[in-house]
Amino acid sequence: HFSREDSSPLSLIGVWMNANCQAQRAPLMSADNGEAYLIEPPVYAEVTGRRGDNVTLPCLLRNKPKHYKVKWTKLDPESMGVQNVVMMLSAQGYKPYGHLGKRASPRNAHAMDVSLELSHLTLEDGGRYRCELIDGIEDENVVITLSIEGLVFPYQSKHGRYRFTFHEAKQACAENDAILATFDQLYRAWTEGLDWCNAGWVHDGTVHYPIIQPRAACGEGLLPGIRSYGPKDKKRDHFDAFCFTSLAPGSVFYARGSFSYKQAELACAEKGAKLADVGQLYSAWHFHQYDRCDGGWLRDGSVRFPISNPRRRCGGVSEAGVRSFGFPDRNAHLYGAYCYR
Ligand SMILES: *[C@@H]1O[C@H](CO)[C@@H](O)[C@H](O)[C@H]1NC(C)=O
Repeated sequence: HFSREDSSPLSLIGVWMNANCQAQRAPLMSADNGEAYLIEPPVYAEVTGRRGDNVTLPCLLRNKPKHYKVKWTKLDPESMGVQNVVMMLSAQGYKPYGHLGKRASPRNAHAMDVSLELSHLTLEDGGRYRCELIDGIEDENVVITLSIEGLVFPYQSKHGRYRFTFHEAKQACAENDAILATFDQLYRAWTEGLDWCNAGWVHDGTVHYPIIQPRAACGEGLLPGIRSYGPKDKKRDHFDAFCFTSLAPGSVFYARGSFSYKQAELACAEKGAKLADVGQLYSAWHFHQYDRCDGGWLRDGSVRFPISNPRRRCGGVSEAGVRSFGFPDRNAHLYGAYCYR
């Protein structure tokens, strides 16, 4: 699907390459036959990258106006009407703007290339970006979605179920190397197998839970799906959190032992590492198929273990996943440690 930011009919003349790399011209859909400068539909409607990757958001000129500027903007629903400009680009050069600008540059692969390169992707970079050609008379734009490849995990407070306000949920994800998932990310996680019987906050302040195997304990409804409570009171209502993370730059390893929480911290420190965050363990499980049948302390005080090849003697559940023992007494000498370096 291709998305357009507005419904202006100016530049609905599209040129693209077919499988044989011959340029094709779309039917003329604009009554006003204005010249179209940007190649549309966008070269890709969606670009995907993992945290840390460099990506290119493609935008190409088909004709070069004498005088022009190209403005790259991130379309943030949260910016409430304030334009989130990332980069301005013209024949003379470019100028980066804002915090994203620090990682932005033009690709400049050839004379007609006005593509945006973003380096060292972060979790927050996902979203829609607009490449807008400003040539003095008419503006044209294409919109490209940048999607961060990652995973969603449910997170519960150490004090039990449904203890987070919206802000606390956001904070809990941040403390675990993650951000609150968007609804789209939760939806995708559900298609990939996330089944969780507790409702959690997502990024826009709505509350949901994903069910693959409907069961009486998980509320009404016979069909699998995302059950939604809709928007909730961010200050008064309390739920769990759905966190989103992606590839982590370091790696997770297991320190064998029967440690208390404090000893587990020391065991990691001795190896030049720290106790892993929950998001880091999930990341290792998701991206590196990390599999270990031993409970280990994590930084938040929970004890978990990652299973990629489900087997009966490892928790007895038939699906892969990160299993949790909850938040045991920190003085219990029962577990090893998951360290991150
Ligand atoms: C990503 O971009 C940065 C800055 O432009 C560059 O220094 C780095 O080498 C690039 N990394 C990769 C993996 O291409």
